[in-house]
Amino acid sequence: MRRPRATEVSTVKKPVSQDQQGKIAGLAVVVMAAGLGKRMRSKQAKVLHPVAGQAMVLYSVGLGLRLAGDRVAVVVGYQADLVRQVIVRATSGKSGDSPVAIVEQLEQLGTGHAVLQSRSVFAVGKRGAPSRYLILNGDTPLLQERTVRELLRVHEAERATVTVLTAVLADARGYGRVVRAHSAQRGVARIVEDRDANSEEQAIREVNAGTYVVDGEFLFSALEKLEPSNAQGEYYLTDIIHLAQDSGRRVAAVMLDNPNEGLGVNTRRQLAEVEQVVRQQIRNRWLDAGVTMIDPTSVWIDNTVTIGKDTVLYPNVTLEGNTVIGEDCVLRSYVRLTNCTIGNGVEILDHCVCADSHIEDGAHLGPFVHLRPGVMVRKKAKVGNFVEMKKTDLGEGSKANHLSYLGDTTIGKGVNIGAGTITCNYDGVRKFQTVIGDGVFLGSDTQLIAPVTVGAGAIIAAGTTVTEDVPADALAIGRVPQVNRTGWAARRRALQGGVNRDTLTVKRKTKFTRLTKKRPMPS
Ligand code: UD1
Ligand code: CA
Repeated sequence: MRRPRATEVSTVKKPVSQDQQGKIAGLAVVVMAAGLGKRMRSKQAKVLHPVAGQAMVLYSVGLGLRLAGDRVAVVVGYQADLVRQVIVRATSGKSGDSPVAIVEQLEQLGTGHAVLQSRSVFAVGKRGAPSRYLILNGDTPLLQERTVRELLRVHEAERATVTVLTAVLADARGYGRVVRAHSAQRGVARIVEDRDANSEEQAIREVNAGTYVVDGEFLFSALEKLEPSNAQGEYYLTDIIHLAQDSGRRVAAVMLDNPNEGLGVNTRRQLAEVEQVVRQQIRNRWLDAGVTMIDPTSVWIDNTVTIGKDTVLYPNVTLEGNTVIGEDCVLRSYVRLTNCTIGNGVEILDHCVCADSHIEDGAHLGPFVHLRPGVMVRKKAKVGNFVEMKKTDLGEGSKANHLSYLGDTTIGKGVNIGAGTITCNYDGVRKFQTVIGDGVFLGSDTQLIAPVTVGAGAIIAAGTTVTEDVPADALAIGRVPQVNRTGWAARRRALQGGVNRDTLTVKRKTKFTRLTKKRPMPS
């Protein structure tokens, strides 16, 4: 991102010093997130729509927390409880307390009315009222921290009462237009909303990005003076700009160099546009951090994911939620991981879908593995093709290589789970546990009727249905005894009119089926 350019700082000799990283003293942040977002045509509040896997509002809230610490208020309204839950869950520490204050706007009477609801939040406490407020829309997830720091810097340097962030867009439709004064300084005179703009104003391409810094002593007294005299009958926050001008106060503006950053999400098209930009930012972040992507644009990484150095992502990998991947891993194509923790040196072959599971160092998965929530694959364990697991702990070095379902199971170290092994964990009503000790060998096609325990070192013969606990080091075998009938097959072929072994497969469909229906089988 190029640095934002201040339009009105030319007279400023020395920028006010400010810690570029830390919290800003005296600053409070208000995030407006009460609107329904009609233009989204959705049942869900607009600010809850995810961008790179994270509710849109959390981008503004996160920015607020980085700048103002615990002095952040979010105004909620439409689906208030849901929005509140999402914010509290995302911002709570280990104690379960969120530093974010949530206030409710009972009726959505406009952005000015929304900010007014936050008045009581910062009025209490020993620290005194905030000297400045940063006001953010809840629908501008591309906004960068350093842009906001620049906005604050200009606000101080200009001794402004209100400072507004603007962007010049090719298509300004839907945005508030920035009307500049005719004076030499071309300061911001007012902001006119799209619906209220005359044709001359509609031609203006400089728009309000919905991010403002306002002096504490001015903000609420100005908000109280707002009138809903506009096309939408709403209390517009943007009207504080001409109120400031009218009372001889200074209004400053910072224009974005990269207008993308000001993109507000009002429609699904804009949501898709913003998603693309954020996804690219995330890819670049991990490429810069030492992750290899064979085809970056096909890799989808949520904002909340972490990836270690020298990990290689093949095309079409999707990493979601709170997934954490270690170093030196290889994820082949069409792997989707959701809320998974992957150790170092893990290889995951193509087409694996895994959720809420842990995979330890050096483990090997896939192809075609399905891990449902609650799986632990311990060090150097192997899970092979067409294996599904749920709430199962696969011990160190153990292998489940082919065609299995393992649910509600604890498996020790060095265990071999034969092809086609199934834990029958569900009787249609309740779920039951299976326990398999260290060093057990399960032959192919074993069924374990839970609850059941197989002691360490036991061997289960292929095809066994295990209904009783197996003692350690025992052999369990449960099969129908085999009977061999000498010459039976040859006699049947003879009944088919002398078809010999070589031509049997060719003739089978026609003659054989007819014969077996009409004639009795040989015994
Ligand atoms: C707003 C600005 C517009 C600017 C644009 C930038 C106003 C009047 N207009 O318009 O100048 O160009 O943002 O993206 O401010 N909200 C509430 N309560 C309400 C109404 C809205 O909390 O009563 C919240 C919404 O949830 C949203 C934000 O305020 O997060 C902005 O509202 P929205 O309706 O999207 O405003 P725009 O029409 O985009
Ligand atoms: Ca908007």
